Amino acid sequence: MVVCPPMNDATFLQACRREPTAYTPVWLMRQAGRYMPEYRALRERVPFLTLCKTPELAAQVTVQAVERLGVDAAIIFADILLIVEPMGVGLEFSKGDGPVIHRPVRSGADVDGLRDVAPAESVGFVFESVKLARTGLPEHIPLIGFSGAPFTVASYLIEGGSSRNYVETKRFMYSDPGAWRALMERLVRVITAYLNEQIAAGAQAVQLFDSWVGCLSPADYRAFILPHMQTLMRGITPGTPVIHFGVETGGLLELLVEAGGDVIGVDWRLDLDLAWQRIGSQHAVQGNLDPVTLFAPQAEIRRQAERVLRSVAGRPGHIFNLGHGILPQTPVDNVIALVDMVHEMSAKKLPSVAS
Ligand code: CP3
Repeated sequence: MVVCPPMNDATFLQACRREPTAYTPVWLMRQAGRYMPEYRALRERVPFLTLCKTPELAAQVTVQAVERLGVDAAIIFADILLIVEPMGVGLEFSKGDGPVIHRPVRSGADVDGLRDVAPAESVGFVFESVKLARTGLPEHIPLIGFSGAPFTVASYLIEGGSSRNYVETKRFMYSDPGAWRALMERLVRVITAYLNEQIAAGAQAVQLFDSWVGCLSPADYRAFILPHMQTLMRGITPGTPVIHFGVETGGLLELLVEAGGDVIGVDWRLDLDLAWQRIGSQHAVQGNLDPVTLFAPQAEIRRQAERVLRSVAGRPGHIFNLGHGILPQTPVDNVIALVDMVHEMSAKKLPSVAS
């Protein structure tokens, strides 16, 4: 895909490539969502899945968040579970309980029974949303496409919903490694095609959400996840920056780097500078303010954002973000203030804490 200026000069893409930027680019995971009154008003009329499947609305929500917050990148409004519905498992977003999968995958036979439909046919609405959002966004604002990573998507397929200890997922992985491999290979094929279709439709970068992979030991990550992530990363359209994100990955950082991605997402449980030392200078980093900081007085938000900026000491390749998504009750004014603070403080090129 040819990316022309001014898009090529977007601070977010420069940071993905570890080029110097005039200020630190910032976007926020879950920047479009329930903390926003406009979003809640829309959701009173339209169920979540319908919203995802109506490209005009999904694009509107994507663009609205950028306009409201002044962030440096947009993320397409969709969900990591949209790709599993066409597999025939029965997906529902029930009020209060989060996602539910009515026919969870619990055996090799269940894996074989998953319907194999190309994303181009089954979730074409996402690519339509990408096209519309691209048209609706200012031309210098990059659009991020995304997918769940194979482990995190598999955890929902197997558990049937959110989980605390991933007992069923791990039981499956340990007791039938052949079926696990078959499931991973199937997900890698679907996710690769899904991301590449988003890129073809107009996404300038993609993020892989391996949100729950932090529940694994390093040895299990290496044995059960790493080879599949590497295949997936190799299949993504070259030239498109890939952000590789997970939560509670302090024990796995080096393995995430080995798995691939141009930018590594870091949560707030790690100091960003120490995490970056482990990640290495060949990668950009994204993070890592605790999302709960946004409930604090603005003076405290400022202090914490400044700490994150100081810790990277002006090194090129930092994308400011939260360590995980914005929570539903977050005050919108604080989110807007955070974006302004990051722009203002980083433009001054703060010296590092050590100097
Ligand atoms: O970041 C954005 O603004 C883009 C939109 C986006 C959504 N989901 C919309 C959404 C993104 C990037 C996601 C990713 C996603 N979905 C992840 C990975 C990110 C993470 O948090 O680690 C996961 C694990 C899911 C699965 C999922 N979808 C859950 C667990 C839930 C219920 C919990 C919740 O926050 O409500 C959802 C629903 C969901 N996805 C909502 C939104 C805005 C809320 C639905 C509503 O409007 O009621």
